Amino acid sequence: MEYSNRVKKMQSSPIRRLIPFAEQAKEEGKEVLHLNIGQPDIETPKEFFKAIEKHAGKVIPYSHSAGIKELRQAFSKYYERWHCTITPDEIIITNGGSEAIIFAMGTVADPEDEVVVIEPFYANYRSFAGMLNVNLLPISADPEAGYMVPDLSNYDSKITNKTKAIIFSNPCNPTGAVYPKEDVLRILEFAKKHDLYVIADEVYREFVFDGLKPFSIMEFTEYHDRIILVDSVSKRYSACGARVGLLASKNKTVLEQVMKMAQARLSPPTVAQMGTLGFLEMAPEYLEEVRDEYQRRRDIVYTELSKVDGLYFKEPKGAFYLAVKLPIDNSEKFVKWMLTEFDINGVTTMVAPLDGFYATPGKGEQEIRIAYVLEEKRLIQACEILRKGLEKYMKLAA
Ligand SMILES: Cc1ncc(COP(=O)(O)O)c(C=O)c1O
Repeated sequence: MEYSNRVKKMQSSPIRRLIPFAEQAKEEGKEVLHLNIGQPDIETPKEFFKAIEKHAGKVIPYSHSAGIKELRQAFSKYYERWHCTITPDEIIITNGGSEAIIFAMGTVADPEDEVVVIEPFYANYRSFAGMLNVNLLPISADPEAGYMVPDLSNYDSKITNKTKAIIFSNPCNPTGAVYPKEDVLRILEFAKKHDLYVIADEVYREFVFDGLKPFSIMEFTEYHDRIILVDSVSKRYSACGARVGLLASKNKTVLEQVMKMAQARLSPPTVAQMGTLGFLEMAPEYLEEVRDEYQRRRDIVYTELSKVDGLYFKEPKGAFYLAVKLPIDNSEKFVKWMLTEFDINGVTTMVAPLDGFYATPGKGEQEIRIAYVLEEKRLIQACEILRKGLEKYMKLAA
């Protein structure tokens, strides 16, 4: 029996593919500090569990396919914080931001159509595109320019009538870059010029540092027709397993099409939606405290890496990632070497190679992503081990 070409073409998660090496290291008695995966360690607020107790009945029913009405109302109110008017009817609750991305791509692109993506990008964009037989057209951001939005006019000639949308995350996973409003506007203008939808993934919205102010692309009302917003509580409230995200749009026709998919999968998770009501009742200051914690961690990683000569990276301004270009030939080899050959007193650090976050073959082979999702003491230890490992590896490679 055969498999579809679709699944054969899909890549395994670039974040998870080296896990067997980590497991082997652990079996040999090493401790592995994980900076390779974006799973926050911050405690999920108790409000989630309290809200479930408050709202749960004797049966766990399907919810409305667009999500519990009170939750859509609560999200609508949440967006007022960011000066955006999004009504409950313009919101469809999804199984995490992931499902919102699949719905968005599936709604605007047919098989063999193209979606423009700023690379490096959240690696699952590639998997979702693969599931839908959609091709990605990459626009490369430069590590040496802090991975900011490049000059889009260089790509005008690549856009064809098969190109249907542009997708990006802001703040960006995997680079930690934060695009200012001017850059988001450049993306919108580019989209308008080529009549593309804009799939804006803002799951890290509040995690911006150094006094930067969070905002949403939905502020740009003039472009509302083409914007599809993706959001999620996974990172914001350390609730990755709740599986609650959303898709929002001001374009009624888009919403009608998305609803067909939402109805087909019946319902987002009812219990987790109840819990999410608890998050949205929390004071906004909670998110400022979480942001400050990530900023402290960003400082630790940045300071430690700054001690190593020859690395290319800029101070990331958001999310909880830092991408760095190393003066070595292959970052996957380096990550494996850290797991198999290097430790300090039995402890080593695992990071993610960045090639799987690119659509252009061969790109990212010298880059790694560090997710600073450990508390301060462990993070300092993990970064020191990484720095010493890097220094040794670079010496061996010289
Ligand atoms: C940029 C970005 N978008 C979307 C997601 C999907 O998150 P979830 O499906 O848990 O909401 C992630 C998860 O890491 C992400 O980093």
